[in-house]
This record gives sequence, C-alpha cells and structure tokens, in this order.
Amino acid sequence: MNNPTESSFRATGTVALRWQGISLELLDQRLLPAQEHWITLENASGVAQSIQNMVVRGAPAIGISAAYGVALAARHAGAGGWKAEIKQAVHELSASRPTAVNLFWALQRMERVFHGCGSLREAQVRLADEAIAIHQEDLAGNLAMADHALEAMGFFADSGGSKPISVLTHCNTGALATGGYGTALGVIRRLHEQKLLTQVYADETRPWLQGSRLTAWELMREGIPVTLNADGAAAAILAAGEVSWIIVGADRITANGDVANKIGTYSLAVLARYHNVGFMVVAPSSTVDMSLESGAEIPIEERGGTEVREVRGIPLAPEGVSVFNPVFDVTPANLIDVIVTERGAVRNPNKTAMQGLFG
Ligand code: MRU
Repeated sequence: MNNPTESSFRATGTVALRWQGISLELLDQRLLPAQEHWITLENASGVAQSIQNMVVRGAPAIGISAAYGVALAARHAGAGGWKAEIKQAVHELSASRPTAVNLFWALQRMERVFHGCGSLREAQVRLADEAIAIHQEDLAGNLAMADHALEAMGFFADSGGSKPISVLTHCNTGALATGGYGTALGVIRRLHEQKLLTQVYADETRPWLQGSRLTAWELMREGIPVTLNADGAAAAILAAGEVSWIIVGADRITANGDVANKIGTYSLAVLARYHNVGFMVVAPSSTVDMSLESGAEIPIEERGGTEVREVRGIPLAPEGVSVFNPVFDVTPANLIDVIVTERGAVRNPNKTAMQGLFG
C-alpha cells in the first residue's frame, strides 16, 4: 500500500500523524506554532488520551488516529485475551470526544474488520491495513472535494482568466486536521494552486486558537497569503465587501443538512447571509450522519473553563469566574449554500437533497 504519510507530505509539506507499524506518532498540536514536537504512542489508551487532550484534533484526523489506535491494540495484544483487549480499546477510543462522527465511523469500520478475524495474527495484519486504508481514503477524498468545491464556486477545469477571490475560514481544517491536504483548507490550497486566491482571512478561533496557532502556520509555510483576524472582526471584513466565500469544515452533518462545526461557525453563517456572501461547508462523507434527523440531536462537547480563562497557563479572567465553553455549534441547513464532499456537492441542503447523495 502507498504510505499515506508520505503522500500527505508530498501534497502539503505538513503531516499530523505518522504510522510506524508498531507505533503511531502524532505532531503535538498543543505546542504549535512554537514547537514541532512528535509524541510516540504504542497503545490505544495513549491515542484516546491524545484525542481527548487535543494533541491531535480535527474530525478526520481524530477518526484516522482512532483507527490506528485499534491497530495498536491488536499489535500489542496478548494471545490469550486479544479479543477482549481490542474490544476494550474500541470502547476507550469511542469515549475520547463526542461530536465528530468520524471517530465513531472509523471505529465501526475497524470493528467490522475485527469481527471477521479468526486469529490474533490475522487481526494484526487486517486492522493495520484497514487503518492505513482509512488514512489513504481521507487524503484522496480531500483532493476530490477540492475539485467539486471549485466547480461549485463557478470555476471550471480551465479557469484561466477567472478573477481571483478572497475567502474567510474558521478553525483549522488543513493537513493537520485530516489525512493530508485538508477539507475547507484543501479547497483554499487548490484555489491558490490555480491562482484563484487573493487572500485568506483566518479567524483566530477562540478559545483554543486553531486559526492563529494552526491555520496561519500551515498557510504561511506554503506561502499562501493569509491575514489573521480576531473572530469579532469577521462582520467588518464581510461588510468591506472583499470576501466572496466563507469556507468551513464540519464535525457532523445530519440528514437534513444541519452542520456541527467549531464554535463560531453559526455566527459566520448568519453574517454571510446578511452580507450576501457564499457559505460553503467542506467535509468527507464520513462526517455525514444520516442516522440523525437534525442538528438538535448532535451531542455538543463542552470543555473545561480553563480553555477560556487562560492561555498557556496565563490567566485572562478573574480567578474562578464561571465559564460556558461549548466547543461546537450547529449551523442550520437553510443558512448553508453548499455542502461539498468527495462524492459531490449538495446545493441548498435539505432532507431531500441530502438523501439524493447519501441515502
Ligand atoms: O476541536 P477541534 O479542533 O477538533 O475542532 C475542529 C473543527 O471544528 C474542524 O472545523 C472540523 O473538525 C473539520 S476538520 C477538517
């Protein structure tokens, strides 16, 4: 099989995870951009903790890491109790974060393979292969969704002469959040490759600062023109009239086209409608959860108040102040112009249109 880490590196120069057969290496995203530090994990518990602690984050990267976590559980399982050990690993990984459905999708895929294995040796080989396949497919999907997205924006294969545009994005949806390349950030990369991008406004993305710490870092490494802005500046940027599209990722998309994504996405969708700016969601089909009718059913993760009260241990608020820290919100389908996946685009998403592509 092609090594997905190498393919991802070739695509962008940035990788979030490296599979080494006996271990999984994760780039510690908590320390970026100050330090590029890799953590080596040899068991599923370590992977589950790394997902929960945000060493690795972003819906697709969480799913891929969890899949490798199951492969590690098989790799290091004892001959006597290997089935119970792998089941326990799946259970632990599934409790790491609640909102991104890619986690549960990847674990279900791994469980299906596991149930077909008759011996530990078979499980070791087939679970590692399945995790690599999930990783590879994610990268390939990112490249395909970039094509569909440009078409949905009105740029066609031969876009020579088209006027470049500026876009605004939120959170980090790039190589760091996926198997490589990126979802929304993959579309932005593709616009840049095609000389169709003037610049990207990157929301800093309070409270965890994925935009300033990760998106700005990824884009600057490749010389993609990026301007960082405080989240509250988005309205003024749109009012100035320069931005044509807001492009974001997703953690879960329900059967009616509602989208859970990083907190602050919903406000951007409201702003986009008011200012007549296009609003595009880009995600792999593994983010689509047709078992939920609407966004009201999506479990929204709340994280500790320290993430809002402090930055890297420096207090920003009065000690002990009470904090509300939901880390995702739900954008209703009627505020979304188009959802793009590797399977194609759903314009004006609703139940019928979603059923057409994902039924
Ligand atoms: O809390 P995070 O950093 O895992 O949240 C990430 C996001 O909300 C992303 O927009 C989403 O997962 C898509 S990543 C391709």
